Amino acid sequence: MSLALITGASSGLGVTFARHLAKAGHDLALVARRLDRLQDVGAELTRAYGVHVETVVADLATDAGIATVVQYINSTPRLDFLVNNAGFGTKGLFFETDIGGQDQMHRVHVMAILHLSHAALRKMVKQGGGAIINVSSVASFTIGAGSVSYGATKAWINAFSKGLDAELQTVKSPVKVQALCPGFTITEFHDTLGMDRGLVPRWLWLSADLVVDTSLRALQGNKVIVIPSWKYKVPVMIMKHLPESMLRKMAHASGRRMKRLSPE
Ligand SMILES: NC(=O)c1ccc[n+]([C@@H]2O[C@H](COP(=O)([O-])OP(=O)(O)OC[C@H]3O[C@@H](n4cnc5c(N)ncnc54)[C@H](OP(=O)(O)O)[C@@H]3O)[C@@H](O)[C@H]2O)c1
Repeated sequence: MSLALITGASSGLGVTFARHLAKAGHDLALVARRLDRLQDVGAELTRAYGVHVETVVADLATDAGIATVVQYINSTPRLDFLVNNAGFGTKGLFFETDIGGQDQMHRVHVMAILHLSHAALRKMVKQGGGAIINVSSVASFTIGAGSVSYGATKAWINAFSKGLDAELQTVKSPVKVQALCPGFTITEFHDTLGMDRGLVPRWLWLSADLVVDTSLRALQGNKVIVIPSWKYKVPVMIMKHLPESMLRKMAHASGRRMKRLSPE
């Protein structure tokens, strides 16, 4: 049997990855802080698809939480998918926010992915197959006034994934690495952040199913950076051709808008 380990599997994209991978017959290891949620998801998927589900409670913003998941990976005989999906956003200008939240974001988006990918790749390269999906964001392509750490950590995820892919190609390993870059997706992300979804035009919202389906289909090809939907592919393509000065002007404008929307 093959095993998929998914972080942030207690809601949103993580639950959707779990549903799609269980439907395809993979056993699951579900990671997050909320055990009750993980157990509910596990029970639903065992009932629906007969897969074996284990839950791993871990706060990935802590060394102990990361170590727990690394130990789980080390102890499992096989690992076919690692979905590094756990993440969150923060509001406000970097120097005005609490440094604790910024620090936690770097731990969850960077250090957890670093350690889990290291443990997973040692296993996957030796076993001769597997895939790592690192959930990034279209924010990785922007200069994020008001979400500096978010954009920076997601840009790190893209660079890290491209580097790992190059190394795997070098050793002719069939293991795949993907950086999945969704735009606005309907999950609990914006509720946790305290952001009014109405501020974003309705047509821009993606469903979690579309995002996950695009990601899993893309594993058949050899793309590392995967952007679901033309709604986001086109602007990202245009942005790549804009001069730095214009990108900075756009960032200033979005920073001013963010200040108006959250004057605190
Ligand atoms: N929704 C969007 O518009 C959007 C767009 C682009 C990228 N993304 C990315 O998609 C990923 C999934 O987010 P989502 O949209 O599905 O949001 P979500 O519904 O809020 O889910 C976030 C998940 O991350 C987990 N998590 C957060 N902090 C954690 C921590 N310290 N330790 C362990 N788990 C933690 C949460 O579980 P617990 O609270 O139970 O620990 C939850 O399962 C994130 O990386 C996010 O940056 C989302």
